[in-house]
Amino acid sequence: MAFTEQDFLIQEKWFNKPNNLVIKSVAPSNIALVKYWGKHGIQLPMNPSISFTLNKSQTQTTVYLTAVDKLSDKVSFKFYLDQKHQADFEPKIAGFFKKIQDFAPFITHFDWKIYSNNTFPHSSGIASSASGFAALSKIIIDLEKQLYPPKTATYYAHKTSFLARLGSGSASRSTAHPVMIWGHHPDIKQTSDLYAIVPDFEIHPVFKTYKDSIVLVEKGQKKVSSTVGHNLMNTHAFKNIRKQHAFEHVLQMTGYLKSGDIENFIKLTEAEALELHALMMTSSPNYLLMQPGTIKIIHKIRNLRKDTGLPVCFTLDAGANVHVLYPDEITRQLQQLLFSKIEFETIHDYV
Ligand code: PMV
Repeated sequence: MAFTEQDFLIQEKWFNKPNNLVIKSVAPSNIALVKYWGKHGIQLPMNPSISFTLNKSQTQTTVYLTAVDKLSDKVSFKFYLDQKHQADFEPKIAGFFKKIQDFAPFITHFDWKIYSNNTFPHSSGIASSASGFAALSKIIIDLEKQLYPPKTATYYAHKTSFLARLGSGSASRSTAHPVMIWGHHPDIKQTSDLYAIVPDFEIHPVFKTYKDSIVLVEKGQKKVSSTVGHNLMNTHAFKNIRKQHAFEHVLQMTGYLKSGDIENFIKLTEAEALELHALMMTSSPNYLLMQPGTIKIIHKIRNLRKDTGLPVCFTLDAGANVHVLYPDEITRQLQQLLFSKIEFETIHDYV
């Protein structure tokens, strides 16, 4: 049975009140195969989504906690990225702490020094918010474990994803391996809008060796934030058809991942990427995140697949960079036939 919000409220009293603590965690990034696009309420998805966990792209976080002298309703904290104080990130983290306070009331009792670094380059096009909020949520759950009587492993796993979701929707899918589904789907057991789950079926071996290499078309900040894009879905002319597609696509994708149906996996993954961008191009106001380089690479991938039969495909995030997905066994061929011919920077990343 799925957990409710009530289940994540803490009823017990603290049994331990430490003065100083150091907690470390590591969390991966993820790439959606079927995209989450549109939200409602407090960070609830318009539709279910499914992703590959990117094991080699991680955020590593260490927090130094000190008991506060005087209790306040705000969490006292400072955030450091690569050892440097980063005030620009703090409003988003403050918002996260506020949203989770009812479910983790103990956080205001400490002063937090949060040190993070990413194992992927800053400009790689991989959003650090997913792995960053997942890493921080793991620490909060670790702290909860140290303060209160023990609960089940399932409770801790779901609550970690639940907290991460309140930081950034896609972060809910960055708390476990190798595939996560976020959003309730009537035909997929245990799924919930509140947190992501690892589906209970075995992934076909071919998808266990999948790789994701990112071709960098554009570095730096996105021109239109995901938050704006999600909000535009509320009044989108294609809202209902998008919802229907996403529910169908998640179910189809789980079938392909189970059976190892690469051909249909490729078709659906690319259709989802293009549908996401088509939604941006048809929202009101509309916008366009793809660049000429994006289209150029998409054509190269499709031509290469047609000419060689190699099972390579692309997906896109809310940006111009192209994620190239392929099984490990064709890495060398792709290095010669695709990556060496691409004039943009390629960051190798792994599922
Ligand atoms: O988690 P957010 O709010 O940054 O939204 C992410 C949306 C996409 O990356 C475009 C799709 C997804 O499911 O990750």
